[in-house]
Amino acid sequence: MEKVVLAFSGGLDTSVCIKLLQEEYDKEVVTACVDVGQPEDEITRPAKVAREMGMKHYTIDAKEEFARDFIFRAIKANALYEGYPLSTALARPLIAIKIVELAKKEGATTISHGCTGKGNDQFRFESTIRSSSSCNVIAPIRDLNLTRTEEVEYAESHGIPLPSDKLYSIDENIWGRSIEGDILEDPMVEPPEEAFTWTRSTEDAPDEPQVVELSFEEGVPVALDGQNMAPLKIIEACNQVAGRHGIGRVDIMEDRIIGLKSRENYETPGAFLIINAHKALEQLTLTREELKFAETISHTYSELVYNGLWHEPLREDLDQLLDHMQRRVSGVVKLKLHKGSLRVLGRKSPYSLYNEKAVSFEDKDLDQREMAGMVKNYALQAACYQKVCKKD
Ligand code: ARG
Repeated sequence: MEKVVLAFSGGLDTSVCIKLLQEEYDKEVVTACVDVGQPEDEITRPAKVAREMGMKHYTIDAKEEFARDFIFRAIKANALYEGYPLSTALARPLIAIKIVELAKKEGATTISHGCTGKGNDQFRFESTIRSSSSCNVIAPIRDLNLTRTEEVEYAESHGIPLPSDKLYSIDENIWGRSIEGDILEDPMVEPPEEAFTWTRSTEDAPDEPQVVELSFEEGVPVALDGQNMAPLKIIEACNQVAGRHGIGRVDIMEDRIIGLKSRENYETPGAFLIINAHKALEQLTLTREELKFAETISHTYSELVYNGLWHEPLREDLDQLLDHMQRRVSGVVKLKLHKGSLRVLGRKSPYSLYNEKAVSFEDKDLDQREMAGMVKNYALQAACYQKVCKKD
């Protein structure tokens, strides 16, 4: 029997996939859950379900790698897609890479995932699998065009242990938590408070503001309030502190790869804090030309990640450029967190391009008179246009 490695989350889709792969596709199934910072029970549950269903199962801890090699790159790029800090999108290629590594180790030539044919993840998984292996891909839910109700029926009739009924479809990793489905599918319905677990509501956030200092080295956060932390730790600490103050809720109409619009809610407190602080430090340390170009990079980078093109060479090219550009984005940003609002209070850097003396009203070294000629001819083209084209 041919061996298949299934990316297994323990949710409805992938649980159904196990049985479908065995019965409809006649495969031997090995399951694996890649830990990118899901809640504890989303790591232990798949292991338990796999055991109950007689499966060989792996748990692969990829949290450090996710923080260091994926999230830190996204920070340098200020990566946001339509206002969403790309949590799910960023983790998918890493999960696929880990599954490919396991397939090689297990001698499997086929990989399976539980994505439907409507979402983005099918693109992200498959593009990464195909660009890093010659494995075949089976997507049973998409292949059989199954609805959720059909999946539940199949699970019940085949004795598949189902996850406890969750109201929403949730995807969580250390960079963010995404909440969709159920009543949230109506874009006019306000998300109920119980949908959120990482962030407090504005009402419940502490009355007292909190001031924090976030230190950066070469474009990435290295210390919170003077305490040095490794990548994973600092992201977790930022999630904690910003979440407590109700920072980082995002509610958007998102454009999926296939063109469907979907209503998405995110909790990304750490990402919100870090990216805003990072941008404040860039304003101090990068030139106007660099800042302008960084916007373009950010846009393109985010689109590549969202669209599942992690292995596209342009993404690597942009990373190289960013690594070079970000060498000077080091320093400290002071921020105030209060009832859902985040305000930059100050910033400093050894690479600051701010010339306090020159910009001062009291300075005479920068001779104002030298500017007269430059100012006089400044809007040359606009002046020509107004005179030539708007004569009357
Ligand atoms: N829309 C986001 C993305 O495509 C997140 C989707 C997460 N999935 C979920 N079931 N909540 O990256």
